[in-house]
Amino acid sequence: MAKIINEVSRTFSEYLLLPRLTKTFHTPTNVSLKTPIAKNSSEKEPRLSLNIPFVSASMQSVSGSEMAISLARRGGCAFIFCSQPIEQQAAMVSRVKTHKAGFVPSDSNLRPDNTLNDAIALRKKTGHSTMPVTHDGSKNGQFLGILTDKDFWEYEDDLEAPVLEFMTKKENVVYGSVGISLHEANKLLRKNKKECLPILDKNDCLHSLVFKKDYFDHMNNPDELLDRKKRLVTGAGVNTHDYEDRVPALINAGVDVLCFDSSDGYSEFQKNAAIWTRKKFGDQIVVGGGNVVDGDGFRYLVEEADIDFVKVGIGGGSICITREQKGIGRGQASALTAVVAERNKYFSETGIYIPVCSDGGLANDTQIIIALAMGADFVMMGRYFAMTTESPTPRVSIGGRMYKPYWGEGSNRARNWQRYNNEEAGMKFEEGIDAYVPIVGSVREVLSVTTTKLKSTMCNMGSLTLKEFSDNAVLTRISEQSFVEGGTSNVLSVDKDIPREV
Ligand code: IMP
Repeated sequence: MAKIINEVSRTFSEYLLLPRLTKTFHTPTNVSLKTPIAKNSSEKEPRLSLNIPFVSASMQSVSGSEMAISLARRGGCAFIFCSQPIEQQAAMVSRVKTHKAGFVPSDSNLRPDNTLNDAIALRKKTGHSTMPVTHDGSKNGQFLGILTDKDFWEYEDDLEAPVLEFMTKKENVVYGSVGISLHEANKLLRKNKKECLPILDKNDCLHSLVFKKDYFDHMNNPDELLDRKKRLVTGAGVNTHDYEDRVPALINAGVDVLCFDSSDGYSEFQKNAAIWTRKKFGDQIVVGGGNVVDGDGFRYLVEEADIDFVKVGIGGGSICITREQKGIGRGQASALTAVVAERNKYFSETGIYIPVCSDGGLANDTQIIIALAMGADFVMMGRYFAMTTESPTPRVSIGGRMYKPYWGEGSNRARNWQRYNNEEAGMKFEEGIDAYVPIVGSVREVLSVTTTKLKSTMCNMGSLTLKEFSDNAVLTRISEQSFVEGGTSNVLSVDKDIPREV
């Protein structure tokens, strides 16, 4: 006979936090949002941690390279979508990993006999106005000089003339040698008042470039998430079908974290793919699994599939219709608390801590805060990031307002049958919809509001770390009436209730 859980399936909006004692040192500047993404034991530091507890969903309309770059610069991590050809996904990963390393391989190079017209065309193509000149126009050719926007006047000079006549020749260029530290390179830039420092090898061939703007960029983004080689960290989604080809290609491109992108991760498919990945690549790579909604699913992925972190949530996503279509899922708050309880039990048994990610259905900052208070180590969001300027979709004007398309991976538009193991069924039914979301600003802008609110709540809860936050958290269930009371009450809202004159 079927087992029936009589406890009602709950969502985040049914809970509120009760403040704990706030001491004088509980101030937002003292709060750290650092959180583990790889499994760890109390004796050892995790192999990888995030600097903010936010990751973007592995979805076509959310996570491309621009999102990955922007999010890693703020301290989080994007999971570049896997519902695309392997080479294309690997190229996106590689774009993030080469984005900024301090020492950047030059991607805009000229030969001395190229014309100024060629230089202008190259600048348009790459967007870079600093162009090294090498003997054969390759990125590691013999370095002859450098051409920038300042070296010629587009509307005055003869654009058919060779760049040789306009470039700053090597003898007048300040450059560094391979082996120089980033700190020394920045000192040279500062001392010589330069914007860009070419780095040459012992044969005078170009190795890389160091930019002044990258130094400032780094200073403005103190939470930037970097790997050991000072490259931005990125994640990528993988499926349980073509992993034997996809995983090596992504690792080759430099990916740091993989996550199985599946609507239901409690499966032998996921176990086989995860074990294969671990056997082949060991601890070199962080591997996440999911999605699950209870302790059984958690145990299976951790004990049988040797997963690093477990993702929780079925049917809560903003574009998701899985619960309606197939009758599977669980209220996100109930799913999360069940998995967190099992995680804590597993930790007390083994001393191994498995980070838990709450995925989907976070409709506002309050729900994000409640999810973290309930013990999620980080949260994955689709809609939240789809609304930013960095999501990979075009802006669309509807009724005078700007929107972006946002569609589920289980929709006909995405046709990601691998996520739903639907190969045999084909796309006979959808598990996601095609939608629009309003544009709200850049990743930096939205995260700045969310993190400010989160830090403020953490101080209310007498906590300086996310661990203290969930350890200290006391939550109360609320009635529908208290939910109404939580909004404005008994006043006319200037925004909502009083018609404005137009
Ligand atoms: P959101 O943050 O509420 O928009 O939810 C995003 C999450 O929904 C993703 O991370 C996936 O776990 C899930 N998801 C993505 N596409 C679909 C779909 O088509 N159907 C059901 N769930 C989806």
